[in-house]
Amino acid sequence: MSHGVKTLGVLGAGQMGGGIAQVAAVAGITVKVFDSFPGAIDKCKGVHKKSLSKLAEKAVITQEVADAAIGRISFVDKLENLTGCDWIVEAVVEDVKVKKDLFSRLAAMYPDENVVLASNTSSISITDIATACGKSASRVVGMHFFNPVPLMKLVEVIPGLQTSPAAVERTIALATACGKTPLKANDRAGFISNRVLMPMINEAFYAWMEGVAEPQAIDGIMKLGCNFPMGPLTLADFIGLDTCVNIMDVLAEGLNNGRYRACPLLKQLVVAGRMGVKSGRGVYEYPAK
Ligand code: 3HC
Repeated sequence: MSHGVKTLGVLGAGQMGGGIAQVAAVAGITVKVFDSFPGAIDKCKGVHKKSLSKLAEKAVITQEVADAAIGRISFVDKLENLTGCDWIVEAVVEDVKVKKDLFSRLAAMYPDENVVLASNTSSISITDIATACGKSASRVVGMHFFNPVPLMKLVEVIPGLQTSPAAVERTIALATACGKTPLKANDRAGFISNRVLMPMINEAFYAWMEGVAEPQAIDGIMKLGCNFPMGPLTLADFIGLDTCVNIMDVLAEGLNNGRYRACPLLKQLVVAGRMGVKSGRGVYEYPAK
C-alpha cells in the first residue's frame, strides 16, 4: 500500500519533530512544521543545516539532496496556518492533555478521513489520544521515531484500539519511504521500546543514588560490559531527564504498578532544572560550544 503523502505536517520543532521533518524532506516529501515556542523555529533550522551538512560530509546523502531537503521544509508559528497537509505527525511534549487538545483541533481542521493523524508519543496510549478525535478515531496511529531521528533506524508503529488497518499499512509505507524499519507494537503503556528501556535507565539512577557506583562507572560498565553504544545515564541526558520522568509516570499509571515509579534522584535533577544535553547539564555537564 502507498502512503500517499505529498505534504507532511509536523507538530513540534524540537529534537524529535525536527528530526522527523528532516528525514521526510530527504525522502522527497514537502514538510510544514508548526511550533509556537519563541526561538524554536530558528533553532530547528540551525539543527537541520548542521545535521544535513554532516550527512553530506559523510556521503550518507549528496549535497544536492541536503540542499533540496532544506528547500522542502517550511515553518508556521500558528496551528491554523498548518494547512494543505495530507498527513500529520505530532511530536510535542509528553503530556496527554496537550496532545488531546491538539488532536481535537486537528480533527476539526482536517475533516477528510484520509488525512492520518499520527503521534510520535513515546509511551502515552494511542487509544486515549484518539478519543479526542471523536468519530474519526480510526485514523489516529502511533508513529514512534527514535533520537537522533536521522541516524536511528526504527519506527515503532502502534495501532490504537480503533485504528484502521489502512492507517497502519500506510504508516508502515511512510516509515519505509523515510528510510526506516517499521516494527509493530500493541498499545500498552510504553509500547515495547520504553517499557524495556526506561526501567533500565531508572535503575541506573537508583544505583547512582544508592552509591553503588559513580555515573562514569555505571555508564562504562554498561558500555564495555553490554556493548551499549552509550551508557544509560548518558542516554538519559540525551533523551532529556524530564522526558524520562514523564515516561516513568506513564508506565506507573498505565501498567498500574509502583515498580515503574521514577527514581527520586532523577526527579530531583529535573526539579533543579538539570534536564540533560538540552539544558546544558543533567547527569553530566554540556558546556555551550
Ligand atoms: N544528524 C547527523 N549526524 C549526527 C546526528 C544527527 N542528528 N547526531 C549525531 N551525528 C553525528 C555526530 O556529529 C558524529 O559525527 P562525527 O563522527 O563526525 O563526530 C556522529 O554522528 C556520532 O558518531 P559517534 O562515533 O559518536 O557515534 P556513532 O555514529 O557510533 O553513533 C549514535 C551515534 C547512533 C547516536 C549512538 O551513540 C547510539 O546509538 N546511541 C544510542 C541512541 C539511542 O539509544 N537512541 C534511542 C533513544 S530512546 C528514544 O529516542 C525513544 C524516546 O521515546 C525516548
